[in-house]
Amino acid sequence: MQIKIAKDYAEMSRLAADMVSRLVESKPNAVLGLATGSTPLGLYEELVKRHRAGLDFSQVTTFNLDEYYGLDGDHPASYNYYMWEQLFSKINIAKERVNIPNGAAADPEEECRRYEARIAAAGGIDLQILGIGHNAHIGFNEPGTPFGTTTSLVKLAPATIKANARFFEREEDVPREAISMGIKSIMQSRSIVLLANGEGKADAVAAAIQGPVTEEVPASVLQLHPDCTFILDEAAARKLTS
Ligand code: F6R
Repeated sequence: MQIKIAKDYAEMSRLAADMVSRLVESKPNAVLGLATGSTPLGLYEELVKRHRAGLDFSQVTTFNLDEYYGLDGDHPASYNYYMWEQLFSKINIAKERVNIPNGAAADPEEECRRYEARIAAAGGIDLQILGIGHNAHIGFNEPGTPFGTTTSLVKLAPATIKANARFFEREEDVPREAISMGIKSIMQSRSIVLLANGEGKADAVAAAIQGPVTEEVPASVLQLHPDCTFILDEAAARKLTS
């Protein structure tokens, strides 16, 4: 596991954008795994800048980690909406190469199987971007999720519902379920970059990097990945002991 400590959020975002740019330049048809939430907003802004300076996404395929279950893709709080708003509408990605779980699928189990099959058909994910929850979740894999899970319909932890209420009018509006790539799906990515900023993530980051590998701390599984980089700002790195 590699750990890079950036002086602030802007530098964290630039370092992550460097890794994505290097991959896309060396492999124009790269397969990227993407996250939503507040953390990668700076990364997406950087990628848009780099696209305007010539970075070509026309052959790139993307897979998002997760989507709320029960929200249409055009709902402003859906992750589909977020991705088009923050990134896809501002770069030259081909619509048919964008993959996000369908939160409005009538048969969610079938949607999960279909999603895993599409990842496999694309040849697997080259670089997976992750954020981390305050409870160390990755994707929507909450504490206690078996490491062997693939894409599935999951229940959101009460803490996650609270944390994500900021994107909705009322906490009651936050969906209670989501379709999420599983821990096993994430671990199959050839490389992984986890981003974390702010003091609020410091405990989760320390537990993930320096605590025991346990299903109670989903991000701790990343200690077992052969090519995983944590890019942290100083505040998120504060609880690491040297
Ligand atoms: C988002 C996702 C989540 C977030 C995590 C952190 O697609 O899978 O695991 O990365 O909840 O969210 P933020 O960045 O909003 O603190």
